Amino acid sequence: MYRTKVAGIGYYVPEKVVTNHDLAKVMDTTDEWVQERTGIVERRYGKKHKETTTSMAARAAEVAIERAGIAKEDVDFIIFATLSPDYYFPGCGVLLQRELGITNKEAGALDIRNQCSGFVYGLSVADQFIRTGMYRNILLVGAEMHSMGLDFSTRGRNVTVIFGDGAGAMVLQPTEEEGKGVLATCLHSDGTYAEKLAFINPGAHGGYHDKYQEEMPDYGYSDAEYGEMFINQHMVETGQIFPHMEGQFVFKMAVQKFPEVILETLAKAGLKKEDIDMLIPHQANLRISQFVQRRMGLRDDQIWNNIQKFGNTTAASVPIALCEAVEAGAVKEGDVVCLAAFGSGFTWAGAVIRW
Ligand code: UT7
Repeated sequence: MYRTKVAGIGYYVPEKVVTNHDLAKVMDTTDEWVQERTGIVERRYGKKHKETTTSMAARAAEVAIERAGIAKEDVDFIIFATLSPDYYFPGCGVLLQRELGITNKEAGALDIRNQCSGFVYGLSVADQFIRTGMYRNILLVGAEMHSMGLDFSTRGRNVTVIFGDGAGAMVLQPTEEEGKGVLATCLHSDGTYAEKLAFINPGAHGGYHDKYQEEMPDYGYSDAEYGEMFINQHMVETGQIFPHMEGQFVFKMAVQKFPEVILETLAKAGLKKEDIDMLIPHQANLRISQFVQRRMGLRDDQIWNNIQKFGNTTAASVPIALCEAVEAGAVKEGDVVCLAAFGSGFTWAGAVIRW
């Protein structure tokens, strides 16, 4: 059986830099608060009307494809992880295929909706397809255009200050090289707390899940016809069309699940925490990453953090951070690289790669 190797990796972040001071001009927040609680100094926002989740993904994918030394037409499967798709449907996978000009009708496209763990989930899916010989050039991307769907009033400040836009991509191929490639992946989920970090409107729930929420929002359904239950004026006026997060609850779960899944994935690969050369955590919050670093006993040069300049880019954060680490020479041939992510769902996942 084959193993899966990373044949090429790339990332793209938009040009526009938005600092904490910029956000403080439109909402009640401060640079000091954001840096102290999250480590974030600035983030990037895509250009309105000019960039989308798909277009940013295409820029990252072009770099990954070039570095893999293949032609776009060689891509036989696309896996696209995002929570901020261009359209509600169809998903970004087919839009990326079109954007890249891949006319190969044999190629398949799959969209993954696993928020912060989406890229690591996608890597595991790709790994299964490659190991069995089903595909030879899988393009895996994680991309987000959060800036288009955030609440820029003070009401949304706890969520809005965290997120940034960007994209990361990998080309994955089979290898028979001894010991190289993806050694193990672990995937987990627990839907108990689905609403603790969620973007529930627009949606077809019609208030069905209200029993799982401590404070039931008023969706304004009373006079609504069926068509208005997906999205209506009341939701728009009351700000119920933005993401919602119970930050402290999510934080507590994250600091528990990150170390758990890292150790579990290492064990599955027959390794220990002492074997980690580089940990790439999902960039949720610098405080979470620092906690995980201490728990794993890692030096500063064994963990990659870039949330300070890009914020939390959800599905894009792991490939952007890994690509930066590779470009900086911090990940070398033969290194044990551990990827880990936790987020909305809750879903969490780990992967161990011998580079
Ligand atoms: O990537 C997916 C997974 N997501 C995460 O892992 C995020 C995990 N959670 C977090 O990172 C943190 O909980 C946050 C950074 C989101 C929030 O930090 P916190 O220390 O947990 O703050 P808090 O939500 O408990 O709020 C503390 C206070 C509140 O004011 P009061 O009630 O004490 O008067 C908030 O209203 O801070 C206030 N606050 C803000 N103040 C200034 C919340 N957001 C802001 C803000 N600027 N942006």
